[in-house]
Amino acid sequence: MPGNRQIIVRGRPTCIPQAEHFELVDGNMPFAGAGEILIRNLFLSVDPAMRGWLADTSNYSQPIAIGSVMRSLAVGEVVESNAPAFAAGERVMGWFGWQQFAATTPDAVIRKVEDRDLSPSLALGVLGLNGVTALLGLEKVARPTAGDTVVVSTAAGAVGSAVGQIAKLLGCRTVGITGGAEKLAICRDEFGYDVAIDYQAPGLDQALANVCPQGANVYFDNTAGPISDTVYRNLALHARVVTCGTASVSSWNPVPTGPRIERIVMTRRAQIGGFVVLDYMDEFQPAGARLAQWVREGKLKYREEIVDGIENCPGAIADLYEGRNLGKRLIRLV
Ligand SMILES: NC(=O)c1ccc[n+]([C@@H]2O[C@H](COP(=O)([O-])OP(=O)(O)OC[C@H]3O[C@@H](n4cnc5c(N)ncnc54)[C@H](OP(=O)(O)O)[C@@H]3O)[C@@H](O)[C@H]2O)c1
Repeated sequence: MPGNRQIIVRGRPTCIPQAEHFELVDGNMPFAGAGEILIRNLFLSVDPAMRGWLADTSNYSQPIAIGSVMRSLAVGEVVESNAPAFAAGERVMGWFGWQQFAATTPDAVIRKVEDRDLSPSLALGVLGLNGVTALLGLEKVARPTAGDTVVVSTAAGAVGSAVGQIAKLLGCRTVGITGGAEKLAICRDEFGYDVAIDYQAPGLDQALANVCPQGANVYFDNTAGPISDTVYRNLALHARVVTCGTASVSSWNPVPTGPRIERIVMTRRAQIGGFVVLDYMDEFQPAGARLAQWVREGKLKYREEIVDGIENCPGAIADLYEGRNLGKRLIRLV
C-alpha cells in the first residue's frame, strides 16, 4: 500500500522560513471518510505569503500549528469521492497542503479545474492566487483608467507580471521595478512593460522621477520597504496604492520602521488600500475564467518555475526571498 509523503512544520521561523523548519515524513495513506474526498496532488504551490502563515504574529490567518502538514494551495485529482458534488477523475484546486494525498471535506476546495486545454498548474499561478490577486487588486483597489501610469514592484514575479500585463490591457502605461538584468529584460520583452527599473542599481528615486514626470497614478506594492518609500515620493495627485505584499520587510522581528508618509498621502490626496485575495474566494472561478481567456488569446503571458519532487519544498520559500525564482515556483509531484 503506498504511503503519503508529507512536509511537516517542525519549527517556528522568526524571519524567513528555512529548510530546517520543515521535515519530510512518510505518513499513512489517507482514505476518504463520510462526506470527504481523497485527492492526489499534482502540483504544490510555493508562496511568499507562507512566511506570514508560519509567523506567530498578527496576520490575516491563524499561524500554522507546529507538527501539522504545511498549509498550501495545491491542484490535484479526485481519486475517491464520498461527496456528491465531486467525482473521481475531476481536477480541483484548494487547500490540500504540502503532501502527496489529502483526504478532506469539500470546503477545502476553492474551485474545480475544468480547463483541460491548459496545464492544471496554471490554476495555482496565473489563473489562481497570483493572477486573481493581480486582477482583483487592480479592480477593487487601484481602479486604473486608460492613460494612467501604473508602477509595479516585484514586476517580473507571478503577481507583478500579471499586474503589468492587465494594466496594459486596460490602456495604462506600465513601469516595472525588479532586481537584475535578466528580470529587467523579461519585464520588457515578455511582459510588455513600457519601462523596467532595477532597484538593485543606485538611483531608483531619480530613475522613477525621470520615467514618471507627472508621478505614478497607481502603485501596486508587492514589497513595502525602501522600494515603496521611493515610489511614495513619486506619487501623482490622487494616486491609488494597493498594499499587496511586504516582501522586503520582516513580519515582526525586528519591527519594521521607515519614513513617515502621512504628508505625502495628504498633499497628494493619495488613497492606500490593503488587499488580501483570500477575501475573494467566491470570485476565484469567474476571475480565473477571465484570466484563462486572456491566456488563450496570448494576451496574458506567464512564467512557471517547476521543480520536481516534494523533497524540494522545505527550501523553496527562502528561494523566493532571495529573488532566485523566475516565475511562479511550483513543486510537481507526478
Ligand atoms: N495580498 C495578497 O492577497 C497576495 C497574494 C499573492 C501574493 N502576494 C504578495 O505579492 C508579492 C509577490 O508574490 P508572488 O507570489 O508573485 O512572488 P514572486 O514575485 O514570483 O516572487 C517573489 C519575488 O519577491 C521579490 N523579493 C523578495 N525579497 C525581496 C526584497 N527583500 N526586496 C524586494 N523584492 C524582493 C523577488 O523579486 P525581485 O527579484 O524582483 O526582487 C522575488 O522573486 C509577495 O509580497 C506576496 O506576499 C499578496
